[in-house]
Amino acid sequence: MKALVLAGGLGSRLRPFSHSMPKQLIPVANRPVLVHVMEDLRALGVTQVGLIVGDRGKEILAALGDGTGLGIELTYIRQHAPLGLAHCITIAQDFLGDDDFVMYLGDNMLTDGVADIARQFREDRPAAQVVVHKVPDPRAFGVAEIDENGRVVRLAEKPAEPRSDLAMTGVYFFTPAVHEAVAAIEPSARGELEITDALQWMVSHGAEVRARIYSGFWKDTGKVEDVLDCNRELLDRLAPSVLGDVDGASEVTGPVVLEEGARVIRSRITGPVIIGAGTVVEDSHIGPHTSIGRDCVLTAAEVEYSIMLDGATVRRVGGRLLRHAVPDRTVRGQDPGSSRRPGGRRDDGPPAERAGSQPVPP
Ligand code: DAU
Repeated sequence: MKALVLAGGLGSRLRPFSHSMPKQLIPVANRPVLVHVMEDLRALGVTQVGLIVGDRGKEILAALGDGTGLGIELTYIRQHAPLGLAHCITIAQDFLGDDDFVMYLGDNMLTDGVADIARQFREDRPAAQVVVHKVPDPRAFGVAEIDENGRVVRLAEKPAEPRSDLAMTGVYFFTPAVHEAVAAIEPSARGELEITDALQWMVSHGAEVRARIYSGFWKDTGKVEDVLDCNRELLDRLAPSVLGDVDGASEVTGPVVLEEGARVIRSRITGPVIIGAGTVVEDSHIGPHTSIGRDCVLTAAEVEYSIMLDGATVRRVGGRLLRHAVPDRTVRGQDPGSSRRPGGRRDDGPPAERAGSQPVPP
């Protein structure tokens, strides 16, 4: 079985965060979402991966290379515009050939893995198999209606009135039967070739489309609060390891990863927290549920439930707690004695609102 991973698209819902990087590279527990996806695929024994990229393909190539470091073989496939999930299959036909494949949306995290579901597909080999998850309100997703045997009887993309509580996650298993379906469908009202329409076409033409329920933790990391939720989930599973330096005036409690070369000075770290290599934390309180990238600087800062991107700086946030934040460059606080509004300003570029450094409401 091969894999097709989708990392094109615009990521507009993740703005302002996605100004810094494509959303699929946003770090969760200090590793890009796409790396988590690749690891999940490797756990299925899949090593040949076609990767759909759009305008920001160069950044993705710089991060993942040819996949060797992840134990996979990556083939990059350029999509000139985000014309839909089914469109990605049409442009990947040379790569996919006549093989079965798993299609995995590059912004999805299924942290408990889909190994059992993949095994069921390999054993039963229905024409297609979707992975669904029960949610209280599935209106933001594709929705599947299934019969008592787990066969899909009807699908709808982001319906206003869902007919079931089964949201389609971003993982789909296909036999080559899908190629006829994607060739047969027309673009939807929003101008995209919808995978939901291709699956519906298969159902309507008598093909067996199965649904398997995934009941672990799932997030489509399309919005900042979802990325932070995902980060919390992975940090709750953190295996502690302190390789960096902690001075005698600091206190570290709970599960903490402190990478080599990171330094903690006169600070309190309350796990779960991960601090990347080369980062310096001084006179600060970090955590819980916080990931700090590499080469960051935190001075007199108080940060919890946040993600700091590599190279970001948080200085003197004027006693203000930085929470639900995703600072990507510099967040600078009120200087003592100054009457300026604290926090939320970069000292090296456009306003924080556009740079992704403002706190996000819970
Ligand atoms: O996350 C699950 C949902 O993903 C499903 O429930 C929906 O049925 C499915 O349509 C999809 O909905 P989204 O609106 O979340 O899809 P999004 O546009 O965010 O694209 C998902 C991924 O695919 C993302 O990594 C970008 C990439 N993509 C998207 C399009 C439209 C491409 O590579 N090319 C594209 O043309």
